[in-house]
Amino acid sequence: MTRKVGIIGLGHVGAAIAHSLTAQGAVDEFVFIDIDDNKVNAEALDFEDAMANLEFNANYVVNDWSALADADVVISSVGKIALQETITTDDRFVELQYNKLQIADISKKLVASEFKGILVVITNPVDVITTMYQHYTGFPKERVIGTGTLLDTARMHRAVGKALGVHPKSVSGYNVGEHGDSQFTAWSTVTVKDKPITSYDLPLSDLNDEVRIGGYTVYHGKKFTSYGIASAASRLTKAILTDSHEELPVSNFRPEYGVYVSYPVIVGREGVIDHVSLDLSSDEQTKLDTSAGFIRERYEEVIS
Ligand code: LAC
Repeated sequence: MTRKVGIIGLGHVGAAIAHSLTAQGAVDEFVFIDIDDNKVNAEALDFEDAMANLEFNANYVVNDWSALADADVVISSVGKIALQETITTDDRFVELQYNKLQIADISKKLVASEFKGILVVITNPVDVITTMYQHYTGFPKERVIGTGTLLDTARMHRAVGKALGVHPKSVSGYNVGEHGDSQFTAWSTVTVKDKPITSYDLPLSDLNDEVRIGGYTVYHGKKFTSYGIASAASRLTKAILTDSHEELPVSNFRPEYGVYVSYPVIVGREGVIDHVSLDLSSDEQTKLDTSAGFIRERYEEVIS
């Protein structure tokens, strides 16, 4: 069976995801969609040039919405590239006014393409944009997923791992809430070497700050972020393609808040296939409610 993935928006992030999935042999056919025809054709040609020296083969189709009809996954990585030079504030909501205009249009085209797979959203501010996508497409809520705090969780695993001298994969636990400033590390879920994080002498509040601004730290150095988010999106895409039933902290629809918010769920071929219940402290639960409330307010502003 051909594993087919559409990527809408072939900027730094879209291209990094395509490269990650291609190099891992995770996808057989890509559909690249971008408003810049020259750029997207050049990206496809560059990938075709890689085939002779890569271990796995993949085929690339360019700017053909109808080719999404039988795609397993479509990834939205659209974003305003021109903004990269001009953003001076550390706030993903600066992008909302630009990105929101594209979402209604892309949603219409996606529905018209008769795409029936899982929509993975990266476009920022991701929780609001994912909620908008589900609203505009009318796709079942469990078939629309935002990358959310999968990336922030990876940043937390990196920061805690470095502080304790272990690999990021040896750190368990989650960042939850908004992929933005109101997110937080749910320290009650974090363990290293089978011990709760509180049993180590670590400045947890400083680590939390480091993780929260992690995206901006990378952004200030290179004017965009790409490999971290591409790895998160690839992992989520592979969990869907392989029906892995993996527990991932991604942006999923939370009926109690009426919007998409990051919280761990089980991901498989049909999208979000099961829920997880964390044993959060009451302080953490309050932070989650506040973060979700913030997403809800911003969503209502933009949709009204
Ligand atoms: C980041 C972008 C994807 O945090 O929001 O790297």
